[in-house]
Amino acid sequence: MTVRIRLLPILGLALIGAAPGTMPGVPDAEQATADYMLKCQGCHRPDGSGDDRSNPPMRGMVARFLTVPGGREFLGRVPGVATTNLDDARLAQLLNWTLYRFDAGHVPRDFHPYTPAEVGSLRQNPLRLDRQAVRARLVARFAQTDQF
Ligand code: HEC
Repeated sequence: MTVRIRLLPILGLALIGAAPGTMPGVPDAEQATADYMLKCQGCHRPDGSGDDRSNPPMRGMVARFLTVPGGREFLGRVPGVATTNLDDARLAQLLNWTLYRFDAGHVPRDFHPYTPAEVGSLRQNPLRLDRQAVRARLVARFAQTDQF
C-alpha cells in the first residue's frame, strides 16, 4: 500500500512526459509561448494566420517548408527568425514550437528538432533582399510535390 502511494506521483510524471501534446525540441513550452507573443505574433497573429498582405500564414503551412530541399535552412534564415533578440537556445525552441503549434500535421516523421547550434549557424547568414524569391521557389516546390 505504502509503495503504491509513493509510486503514484512518479507514474503521473512519466505519463505527463509521454503525453501526446509533447513537442520535441521544446523543453519549456511556456517560455516558447511567451516568446512568440512578444517577438512574433505582432506580424504573424496569435493564431499564426498572418494576413493576406505582407505576413504569410504559418497555420497549416509552415512545416511544409521542411518537406523540400533548402526549406529547413530557409526557416532559420528568414529575418523575423534570424535577427530576433533571443539567444540560440530560446530561438531553436521557439522555432520547433512554431512548427508544432501551427502545423503539426505537416512535420515530417523523421524531423529532427532544430538545435541551438544549428540555429546559431543559420542565423549568421540571414536572408535579405533575396528572401521573397527564395521563398517563392520553395513554395512552388512543395505546392507541386505534396498532395495536401
Ligand atoms: C516584422 C514582422 C515579422 C516579425 C516580427 C516576425 N516575422 Fe516571421 N515572417 C515575416 C515575413 C514578412 C515573412 C516572409 C518571409 C520574409 O519576407 O521575410 C516571415 C516568415 C517567417 C517564417 C517562414 C515561413 C514563411 O511562410 O515564410 C517563419 C518560420 C517565421 N517567419 C517565424 C517567425 C518567428 C518565430 C518570429 C518571432 C521570433 C517571427 N517570424 C517574427 C514577418 C515577421
